[in-house]
Amino acid sequence: MVSSVIAALSSAYSFKPKEQRIDVSGDHKFIAPDFSTDYRGPCPALNALANHGYIPRNGIASVEQIVKASTEVFGIEKDFATFTATYGIAFAASPNLKNLSIGAAVRPGDVPSDLRVGLSTRPQGLSLTHVGLEHDASPTRMDLYEKGSNGNNYDLSPSLFQQLLHRQEGIAEHKVNYNIKVLAHHRFQRIQDSIANNADFFLQPFSGCFFQGNSYAVIYRAFANHSVEHPMGRLDRKTLMSFFGVYKDGDRLKYNKGGERIPDIWYRRPHDDPYDIKKANNDLLEMGEYHPELIDEYCAGSNLAGADEQKTYAAIDMNKLTNGTYKSSTLRDGYNLSCAAFTTSVQTAPWWLSRYYSKLGTMVMPRLLATLQPLTGALGCKVLGGTLDETLFQVFPGFKESLNVPQ
Ligand code: HEM
Ligand SMILES: *[C@@H]1O[C@H](CO)[C@@H](O)[C@H](O)[C@H]1NC(C)=O
Ligand SMILES: *[C@@H]1O[C@H](CO)[C@@H](O)[C@H](O)[C@H]1NC(C)=O
Ligand SMILES: *[C@@H]1O[C@H](CO)[C@@H](O)[C@H](O)[C@H]1NC(C)=O
Ligand SMILES: *[C@@H]1O[C@H](CO)[C@@H](O)[C@H](O)[C@H]1NC(C)=O
Repeated sequence: MVSSVIAALSSAYSFKPKEQRIDVSGDHKFIAPDFSTDYRGPCPALNALANHGYIPRNGIASVEQIVKASTEVFGIEKDFATFTATYGIAFAASPNLKNLSIGAAVRPGDVPSDLRVGLSTRPQGLSLTHVGLEHDASPTRMDLYEKGSNGNNYDLSPSLFQQLLHRQEGIAEHKVNYNIKVLAHHRFQRIQDSIANNADFFLQPFSGCFFQGNSYAVIYRAFANHSVEHPMGRLDRKTLMSFFGVYKDGDRLKYNKGGERIPDIWYRRPHDDPYDIKKANNDLLEMGEYHPELIDEYCAGSNLAGADEQKTYAAIDMNKLTNGTYKSSTLRDGYNLSCAAFTTSVQTAPWWLSRYYSKLGTMVMPRLLATLQPLTGALGCKVLGGTLDETLFQVFPGFKESLNVPQ
């Protein structure tokens, strides 16, 4: 009792149950998707938002709807959510840049075309976005080209989820917490396994320096339950399983596809503590304290020639890539890590997007840049002096492969 009072007092944020409780009744009650009409994909948060009607239940949502739901339900800061959603819709090859499928390619007629967008490939969804957005070594999804994935990089793999769950094995239920440290260990191991099993393993700087690690950090930062005892959140087994749509069948874990669910009694982050880009950067730095390689080796890199014991992984030299604007030795300073990711993404994104949109410069890039600016501005990022050398990437099989666009 005394210790919980102290914990509550020592936190800058107080628990406000009325504000933080998330409604899962009425319009927001859980309804499993009907897969003949509804889309679900690689993001457990978006799947859960759709299952509860916080975004349209069919899984086709607009940027505004995704931003509203991400800020309201998960406490993601608005500019950060806006950038993610805008980046996501661009990479999902949306025919009108208004409506995004959170999963598979949209069926004809589900999203109207807007000729100004100049979509030059088949309309897609978030599951398409390999390398541009969807990345290798995800917390619970296999890699697109990994042995045994059969090209499925969007459904949860029960065995990967099991590995994550086991990281708190033997710990009493009331003490379990899938926090940044636990997630850092899982992330490090997932990268080792991908390097070993995926000949095409590849992390571009946007993923390796930021988004890949962020996919792990948000598991704790967005899904943790909050209480008087744990005003900063605690993520236990039950809550983790619920958000990932996993249940126990005897001793075995099963994935209930489309079953991602907000627990009946669940309290989000405090409203005065939105998860912003600076907090996201600090989580990546904390992960780097447990495993320095996450910053020194895996900010960007690739397998060179086949997976396996040969250990052909090579890191991309950030100094060489950015002409010294960012370098490995100073990535831990300030917000350099996120800055390296976001400023390079401005130049790498068109390598894929120019294959999706014929009029990239008129609508897609201006929107991306407009939503990126508040983030890099808040971090005080140095802009790159020149043009990234795409040929540095051409030696990487996983990069070349990712340029093949489904027609
Ligand atoms: C609302 C806040 C969000 C949270 C808490 C969140 C959480 C997550 C998590 C935990 C994963 C990793 C899945 C796994 O492999 O286990 C993930 C993946 C993903 N999310 Fe989200 N997400 C959010 C918003 C978004 C938005 C707005 C978009 C884009 C519109 C998005 C797109 C994706 C994509 C493309 C992936 C696949 C990346 C990969 O693992 O390869 N997410 N998300
Ligand atoms: C597409 O998004 C717009 C909002 O930008 C919304 O008004 C419209 O209903 C959506 N259409 C579909 C098919 O989801
Ligand atoms: C979340 O925390 C509250 C307050 O302690 C508790 O009543 C509730 O059962 C918890 N929810 C879950 C899913 O554990
Ligand atoms: C960021 O990196 C640059 C170049 O590597 C360095 O000059 C700068 O001091 C670093 N730190 C901050 C806080 O910007
Ligand atoms: C790096 O320097 C070279 C040679 O001066 C230049 O061509 C290139 O555009 C620069 N790239 C970046 C990212 O600054």
